[in-house]
Amino acid sequence: MNAPVEIKLPEKTAGYRTFTLGQLTFQRDEYFVTITWPAKGQRQSHTMSADAFLRALMRDVAWGFFYGLVNFDAVFGTRNLYGRVELFAGRYNEAIHKAGLSYVEVFETPQAMAKFKEILSDWVNEGFDPFAAPAETGAAAAFGEKRGNNLKAIERFRVATKRMPGLEGDSPLREESNGYAINRAFADVAQDEPEIKAEPGFEKELHGFNLFKYLSRSDVTWNPSVTSVCKQSLFCPTTEEYILPIIHGNDRVEWFVQLSDEITWEVGDRETGRPRARLTMKAGDVAAMPADIRHQGFSKKRSMLLVWENANPDLPKRYERGELPPYPVEF
Ligand code: PHB
Ligand code: FE
Repeated sequence: MNAPVEIKLPEKTAGYRTFTLGQLTFQRDEYFVTITWPAKGQRQSHTMSADAFLRALMRDVAWGFFYGLVNFDAVFGTRNLYGRVELFAGRYNEAIHKAGLSYVEVFETPQAMAKFKEILSDWVNEGFDPFAAPAETGAAAAFGEKRGNNLKAIERFRVATKRMPGLEGDSPLREESNGYAINRAFADVAQDEPEIKAEPGFEKELHGFNLFKYLSRSDVTWNPSVTSVCKQSLFCPTTEEYILPIIHGNDRVEWFVQLSDEITWEVGDRETGRPRARLTMKAGDVAAMPADIRHQGFSKKRSMLLVWENANPDLPKRYERGELPPYPVEF
């Protein structure tokens, strides 16, 4: 454990509050976010663009720290310990970690979550939507001195579906009437719904919906939402445009099914970030992301991706113990 180092930061910069969580500090100015942490008896610091930081922070908050590692960039991020969460600086950056300059600190999840939500509500200006594609939000609004806020955008958390959208008592389907217009990129997507004829008595059990229509009306990017739950098997489709704002370090295998258009994935080693593969997925392609990698996607045109997750809570421990190979199939 590093000895605490006194640090004096201004309470506000450019109108934005400065935040402290344990030994970590977070400061934002007109263009950048600077994070500091103690190492080798000094303060180390790391700076990233404010818009990239806020897009990443939005995902981490909306997803409840997600599966495994959420790298905001090559230096800073969070690791979900399910109940607790580790914040790290440089821990999964080979050069920083080897130089002895990395730092990790573990928090109870509600404590870290509350602080992250506070940062988000203070640092997101009016007119900037960290969930939106850059072409669909006020890019300039991300920057400059603090101006208002955008609570409506940041309180739009992940849709909690119990079985399938549209079932009685479950999350709603997306329609014009509940505020979901067809996205400009999906104007050609058919909007008809399947006809469902259930045997009497099974009306609440048999269900189906047009997933392409549902996705064509997504108002956010890079935000998987559950559309079917079968025990631990979760289908989490999402629409993607520009860059996945985080670099995800899996703690389990996950499958990708490219439903439309194209995404390129950069895949690196989970621990060090060393590059491993570059993968371009076209409509219809299926890939498994191994449990020992980190990945980030790039989508030139808004596309539809199905992320298939195994939510079994035993998986991270089983991979750590080496009980399971990091890939899902042997050929
Ligand atoms: C992932 O980390 O696998 C992931 C996250 C968000 C997306 C797509 C994939 O939108
Ligand atoms: Fe992932």
